[in-house]
Amino acid sequence: MRKKIVAGNWKMNNNKAETDQLIAALKAKGSFTGVEVKVAPTSIHLAQAVETLSDSAIEVIGQNMHQATNGAYTGEISAVMLQSVGVNSVILGHSERRAYFNETDEALEEKVASAVKQDMEVVFCFGEELEDRQSEQHFQVVEDQLHKALFSLPHTAWEKIVLAYEPVWAIGTGETASPEQAQEMHAFIRGLVAQNFDENIAENVAILYGGSVKPANAQEIFSKPDVDGGLIGGAALNADDFFAIVQSI
Ligand code: 13P
Repeated sequence: MRKKIVAGNWKMNNNKAETDQLIAALKAKGSFTGVEVKVAPTSIHLAQAVETLSDSAIEVIGQNMHQATNGAYTGEISAVMLQSVGVNSVILGHSERRAYFNETDEALEEKVASAVKQDMEVVFCFGEELEDRQSEQHFQVVEDQLHKALFSLPHTAWEKIVLAYEPVWAIGTGETASPEQAQEMHAFIRGLVAQNFDENIAENVAILYGGSVKPANAQEIFSKPDVDGGLIGGAALNADDFFAIVQSI
């Protein structure tokens, strides 16, 4: 059976003390079953988060990485650096990275390949913009994004891939895809993976939904058969809200 996952993307939020406070509040919530829980603090706080969560089932993941192992890339971090502080999973392709840091599908293909080569898990984000949906291009846009970054991977790499469909128009806007829109897209995505790889890989890949998931809407979205969890932004910064979302799975 495929995994259920709820991951919190903290984006560029929380200083050192706030990171400790949020982690302490999450740990105080106690245990959870039947779901993998991950949090992605900003890179400067990863090592500290790994240490403080070492006695917990919550996994610490990165928000981004460079495709090279090391070298003259000022300001960047690599897969081996993440692993050296105990981080074995990384978010790649977030729409904010694509929009504000010019991450192209080609660069993402390299990043995914580099992460997989280092045996890292990748939480791969993609999703259409509002005008794509309004012009009914959303399926094509998603197919192109997946095709360019993921579809040249070997079959074996899929054990390390988690997909996160995040329609750009739903991120930080308070507007979510309806549960039906999410299910329709997730089923489409699973079908693409089946077509380009095989049924077994498609059946086993976890597909998360992201975009304004809150305690009030999580349960309905997660109840859809092809939605295997969520990638949470704003609501992940509050331990009560995040834990309520974890418990909605
Ligand atoms: P919000 O939950 O704040 O809409 O953010 C979603 C997101 O971008 C997670 O990566």
